[in-house]
Amino acid sequence: MATLGNCVAASYLAANEKAASSSLESVFLGVPLRHQSSHIVRLGSKEIKGQVRIISTRANAVAAPVETVKPIEGKKTATKSVCIVTGASSGLGLATTKALVDSGEWHVVMACRDFLKAEKAAKSVGLPKGSYTVMHLDLASFESVRQFVKNFRSTGMPLDVLVCNAAVYFPTAKEPTFSAEGFELSVATNHLGHFLLARLLLDDLEKSESSSKRLIIVGSITGNTNTLAGNVPPKANLGDLRGLSGGLNGVTTSPMIDGGAFDGAKAYKDSKVCNMLTMQEFHRRYHEKTNIIFSSLYPGCIATTGLFRSHIPLFRALFPPFQKYITKGFVSEEESGKRLAQVVRDPSLNKSGVYWSWNNDSSSFENVLSEEASDPEKARKLWEISEKLVGLA
Ligand SMILES: NC(=O)c1ccc[n+]([C@@H]2O[C@H](COP(=O)([O-])OP(=O)(O)OC[C@H]3O[C@@H](n4cnc5c(N)ncnc54)[C@H](OP(=O)(O)O)[C@@H]3O)[C@@H](O)[C@H]2O)c1
Repeated sequence: MATLGNCVAASYLAANEKAASSSLESVFLGVPLRHQSSHIVRLGSKEIKGQVRIISTRANAVAAPVETVKPIEGKKTATKSVCIVTGASSGLGLATTKALVDSGEWHVVMACRDFLKAEKAAKSVGLPKGSYTVMHLDLASFESVRQFVKNFRSTGMPLDVLVCNAAVYFPTAKEPTFSAEGFELSVATNHLGHFLLARLLLDDLEKSESSSKRLIIVGSITGNTNTLAGNVPPKANLGDLRGLSGGLNGVTTSPMIDGGAFDGAKAYKDSKVCNMLTMQEFHRRYHEKTNIIFSSLYPGCIATTGLFRSHIPLFRALFPPFQKYITKGFVSEEESGKRLAQVVRDPSLNKSGVYWSWNNDSSSFENVLSEEASDPEKARKLWEISEKLVGLA
């Protein structure tokens, strides 16, 4: 894969330096995959411009080689910032990708576990070819996370913003399921996979020449017990983190962070508390040193997304109208994407350590986290246990 990745960076450079023309062929499941477009992506202090063909494969569960064809002479293009969005194949991640691409200022790396689904999703919302790159990332496998980072680096693209958005939610599961390394799947995907990804990509973010580099971890009201929604049972509670310390494996230890009996809805809420604590711990440890802006958000209740796919059909049918007409908390996918895109790029949302929310008139404000989701001692302990579990300590 290193060869493939090097080929990507080399292709960009070739386009800039000698208007090289080449032709690689790639086939995925018997289908040739390629797209053409013109754009400029910054490579360090260099601008790399040209017509770019993106060919994607999924060999060994990784993807995203880029092939340069011909530069377009005299065509006016703008320098684009680069944002990685995890879970960009549906819901909030897809809507955010669309909002960023539509701004004309961003190239989005769609970090997704299902390559073809991501490609179809990109087409379904009309993303122009070349405005995005799909790269394979399975957050439920640390090996895949590490491989994604290698592949991303080998493209030579800079990283200006990382959005940790992907999540799974198993509210009706009777038994836990587990990640590749044997951790309860919702905490493994939503927290541990993102924790490893964000830690590994911190260096890349630090190197960004953007004056507004950002790391965003999507949170949720459901993890905040200082709200009505956060008080719907089962409530989030990490306890003394004994289950997490033990490895959440469901064999020698509980699959739940607090050491209790498995509850899929609670596991999701707990993972969201981890997301919000992690963002604050990043802020404490790295904001001054790196100038990176760390933030989290509650995008609103986006009742139509795939997050609820494993809920019972009656719930899925009634939840959107309930949110629309009874609680009036409903937010469309499009609107939620605009909100997250604001956290990515709006100069006024440049305060680090903040959990953003929106009023009914869609104006943003700094929200207050629950006692547990803002407990610095718990955040420190969570950080230390998590870095052991993901193999960084
Ligand atoms: N919906 C809401 O009301 C709401 C409210 C507050 C916060 N949020 C947060 O918003 C974020 C996005 O959720 P959503 O509502 O947009 O749900 P969604 O439509 O189900 O999107 C989740 C995304 O995560 C991806 N994903 C799941 N497991 C993955 C893995 N192992 N590796 C890589 N990607 C994986 C999914 O990929 P596939 O397409 O392959 O399944 C999908 O692209 C989550 O962080 C959620 O907690 C949602």
